[in-house]
Amino acid sequence: MRPVARYDFAAQLGGDLEAVLESMRQVVLRGGHGPDAEVAAFEAEFATFLGARYACGVNTGTDALVMALGALGVGSGDEVVTQANTFHATVAAVCLCGARPVLADARDDTFLMDEERFAAALTPRTKVVIPVHLFGKPTPMQRISSLSAAHGFAIVEDAAQAHGARIDGQRVGTFGTFGCFSFHPSKNLASAGDGGAVVTQDAELALEIRRRRALGQVRQNVHEVVSGNSRLHELQAVVLRAKLPKLDGWNAKRRELAATYRDALDDLPLSFQAIEPQEEHVFHLFQVRSGERDALLTYLQRLGIDAVVRYPTPVHLQPAFAGLGWQRGEFPVAERLAEELLCLPLRPDMSDGEISAVVEGVRAFYGR
Ligand SMILES: Cc1ncc(COP(=O)(O)O)c(C=O)c1O
Repeated sequence: MRPVARYDFAAQLGGDLEAVLESMRQVVLRGGHGPDAEVAAFEAEFATFLGARYACGVNTGTDALVMALGALGVGSGDEVVTQANTFHATVAAVCLCGARPVLADARDDTFLMDEERFAAALTPRTKVVIPVHLFGKPTPMQRISSLSAAHGFAIVEDAAQAHGARIDGQRVGTFGTFGCFSFHPSKNLASAGDGGAVVTQDAELALEIRRRRALGQVRQNVHEVVSGNSRLHELQAVVLRAKLPKLDGWNAKRRELAATYRDALDDLPLSFQAIEPQEEHVFHLFQVRSGERDALLTYLQRLGIDAVVRYPTPVHLQPAFAGLGWQRGEFPVAERLAEELLCLPLRPDMSDGEISAVVEGVRAFYGR
């Protein structure tokens, strides 16, 4: 059987490689110094793409979350509610601000935050809620938004895995006070290294993020807040500008291939992340849920199929958070998902032959 890779970075640039290298040459020749013209252009283009007023390029998706929480004044004594099944960075960002993360378990069908458990997790100390549009599926925002209005907490969307996803035509990242994105190489929109962005509709808050990403500096030698140095690099902006116009097409292709997988695997003892008619899932990851996940993973890997587990240990059981007192059994759905989910390779440039190789591999595992 032919090997099937998870990424093909050359395919992402396609015929644009020479133009990208020429723009990079210009950046290198000016020493990466001077006005961040590529970053500014990318910020404007990304904001337009999302239908947002402001996009601020930053160093990583993790820093995007830290800066968004910091700009909202999150700190010691505050609680931030997020979902139990997320990547480490969502929860780490809360801790890095000195606040207490509070987890709400996931739903078995959507693999996203359970609204009832989320509502039950709110307290008078809840300052922010972070819905995570995990695997590229938008978290329903209506209930969260109305609870936000009633309780007075802010919403910071973790859209690191969901560039371009929509609910009723509106892009995720534009529902909350802030939307945070990652451009890590694994993402649907990837730089050639690390990158991230914070999106907002509020001019003052955009200014605050711009201050925080650059040592609290508003102009040279004037530092107004204590903050790190976390800017998006010009070279990364060049790559992102070349890829952004292709993103909607890639996401459409991801949806098409995900539908092909589902049709071809429908009769097997697997389940899939639920899809709602009003949403546009962008399938950052295509997850199958299997009671025999580990054996299926080993079988596919032996065939050269680059399947992978995201994430085998739920955040509440990570050693980094041992001090928070979370116990095994506390978030049972997140724990089951960590045991049963498996990502099949999904790239927008996959050939029919590669899709067939994956489908045949999974079917062969089940003897079909
Ligand atoms: C859900 C989620 N949040 C946050 C991040 C952090 O992004 P980064 O790796 O760019 O720091 C990631 C990406 O890895 C992610 O998947």
